[in-house]
Amino acid sequence: MRPRRLRSSSAVRELVAENHVRSSDLIYPIFVREGLSSPREIESMPGVFQHSEASLLVEIDEVLALGIRSVMLFAIPEHRDEVGSEALNENGILARSVRAVKERVGDRLVVIADLCLDEFTSHGHCGVLCSSGDVDNDLTLMKYSEMARVLGKAGADMLGLSGMMDNQVAAVRESLDQAGLQDVAILAYAAKYASAFYGPFRDAVESQLTGDRRGYQQDPRNRKEAAREVLLDIEQGADIVMVKPALSYLDIVSDIASLSNVPVAAYVVSGEYAMVELAASVGLIDRDRSIFEILHSVKRSGASLICTYWAKDYARRDHIGNL
Ligand code: PBG
Repeated sequence: MRPRRLRSSSAVRELVAENHVRSSDLIYPIFVREGLSSPREIESMPGVFQHSEASLLVEIDEVLALGIRSVMLFAIPEHRDEVGSEALNENGILARSVRAVKERVGDRLVVIADLCLDEFTSHGHCGVLCSSGDVDNDLTLMKYSEMARVLGKAGADMLGLSGMMDNQVAAVRESLDQAGLQDVAILAYAAKYASAFYGPFRDAVESQLTGDRRGYQQDPRNRKEAAREVLLDIEQGADIVMVKPALSYLDIVSDIASLSNVPVAAYVVSGEYAMVELAASVGLIDRDRSIFEILHSVKRSGASLICTYWAKDYARRDHIGNL
């Protein structure tokens, strides 16, 4: 047997390629910042911007033209407080942005709104704190339930539950259904690890996090725990489950892909993006080939959807068809 026969030309390699990443598999995260007059590049994430409300819509047009079918919206409010009040404001920056984007795109683009309090709290945690300084799980669920209704009414197609509170999927599902928002889908960050690779994201949302998130996000040493989290979320009504980060957790992506009966997504996070961008910027690695390789590794591990800051870069090349 000579396996090299099937590697001998680009045509034959194309013919036998086992995995394909399509632009429509990608979810593009976008940041919108209240009070900004023009887009501002995020220092730790070269090529990624905080958008103004006006430039957000220009970005959306570009995303659509490239064949990307889904965006994940994160908003940075002008005012933060202990309990994240702006997250529940129907005219707050996130709800307003969701509304504006949906008015622009209709059903051509799936709009996922991040459902978490960390962008809205002054302490940067994903929920409300109790007197001990811990995040109060069930009090936070009440906030998430209301935030879900606000974002659902604003027109979000899907909510990205990224807070890692216990029973958040059940609480949000019930709240949406009671408000007549049965068609709003839930993308659950089912297996989300307490990761150093979120570093640049904190910069992107200007978070002043005090302490860390190890009391609610998963321990990187654990594998079975991810299965438990995912099964709970599916049981509670998650429409899609996500593993995050992606690259140090491809074993988890693979496990979840075989046990899940709903679509599996993986998030190539800010630190993973920054590592490649910085190494490529000084000529240590080939940027385009690294992006190609990384996205296919995630697909190969079993994720059908990939949330990535490279969505536009990948789609641009995919369009030309010269991968
Ligand atoms: C929480 C949230 C975070 C990210 C997405 N949603 C930050 C965190 O949990 O610390 C990180 C995404 C990235 O690093 O690209 N709302």
